[in-house]
Amino acid sequence: MASLKDEILAKLAAVSGLDGVPLSATGKLSEIVANDGKVFFSITVDAAKVKAWESVRERAEQAVRAIPGVRSVMIALTAERAGAAGAQPAAQGSARPRPAPAAPRQGPAGIPDVGAIVAVASGKGGVGKSTIAINLALGLRDLGLKVGVLDADIYGPSLPKLLAIRERPQTASGTRLRPIVRHGLAVMSIGFLVEEETPMIWRGPMVMSALTQMLREVDWGTLDVMVVDMPPGTGDAQLTMAQQVPLKGAVIVSTPQDLALVDARRGIAMFRRVNVPILGIVENMSTFICPHCGTRSDIFGHGGARHEAERLDVPFLGEVPLAIDIRETSDAGAPVVASAPDGLHAKALRDIAARVRDGLGAESRPAPKIVIEA
Ligand SMILES: Nc1ncnc2c1ncn2[C@@H]1O[C@H](COP(=O)(O)OP(=O)(O)O)[C@@H](O)[C@H]1O
Ligand SMILES: [Mg+2]
Repeated sequence: MASLKDEILAKLAAVSGLDGVPLSATGKLSEIVANDGKVFFSITVDAAKVKAWESVRERAEQAVRAIPGVRSVMIALTAERAGAAGAQPAAQGSARPRPAPAAPRQGPAGIPDVGAIVAVASGKGGVGKSTIAINLALGLRDLGLKVGVLDADIYGPSLPKLLAIRERPQTASGTRLRPIVRHGLAVMSIGFLVEEETPMIWRGPMVMSALTQMLREVDWGTLDVMVVDMPPGTGDAQLTMAQQVPLKGAVIVSTPQDLALVDARRGIAMFRRVNVPILGIVENMSTFICPHCGTRSDIFGHGGARHEAERLDVPFLGEVPLAIDIRETSDAGAPVVASAPDGLHAKALRDIAARVRDGLGAESRPAPKIVIEA
């Protein structure tokens, strides 16, 4: 019996590219990932012809979807951009690379009807990036904004667990995936499409195509803010991602201890390198207050991120305590801002959301020339 991959290739033999060559023979396909009825791969195309290739992509999706047993198909077009990653000089040494305020950022195109896209990032895993991202999104929702969350951590997607989502996204009008809606947030994660236990080996171009697909091939609807939970680290993958996603700003999450701050600094340098404004730093797992006796202990230290923010001249967005209920609610799929909205922890997170909103507002409005005192 032919394997699913062979069946896919056979179907793609009947779909010709713009050059008339069958897709199966172009050498432009990435590795085909076929898993439990979910198929995923990318086609590398000339950047100048992406629009024209779109119809080929759609025909390829239809062809693959017609194979019995295939439940969902994601095919992405990836284009090599001339002089993309690494083209800008690296920000090094003591000089502080600040984007010149007058120069508009040359970046990727935005997403129709999606307002500000905000990355939540850290140089390091396990500092609470996903926890902050989801609660920040809920805090922004509580401020009356329409919010989406994109889980861009394709190596360790967190949204399925954080929101206890086990269902699969449905397609709208045949081709585009609909985000899943939870707590009033539109959410999308590669974790909705692959099994949690499936080890996924992603190669560079696939990471990008997965992300591009989740950004641009999902019916996000109208959003004021999209919060992107970034993968940890400051390697090439993250840098490319920071360049490819039209980011309005970045929120850096750090724990208070020096080691984590070193990573936070790297994260900030990375975003500055691609001219993404830093909206500020959050100190997570800050002071621990014993729920039994009320004693404060600074398990990972305290105040490190605030000092670092001052030193790097970026806003300090606030502290989130190390708290059992934050972990428990996250693990149970009911983040604290949604499940205990009146508690102190939710308040700390909502205050952070308000500062992020203010930072975005200040960013998007041109500075007034004349200020009239009321
Ligand atoms: N402020 C906090 N207090 C207690 N536990 C936390 C806090 N922030 C995050 N955690 C827990 O720490 C673990 C790692 O957090 P996570 O958000 O997944 O980090 P990251 O996305 O940076 O890898 C999770 O189990 C999460 O519930
Ligand atoms: Mg995470």
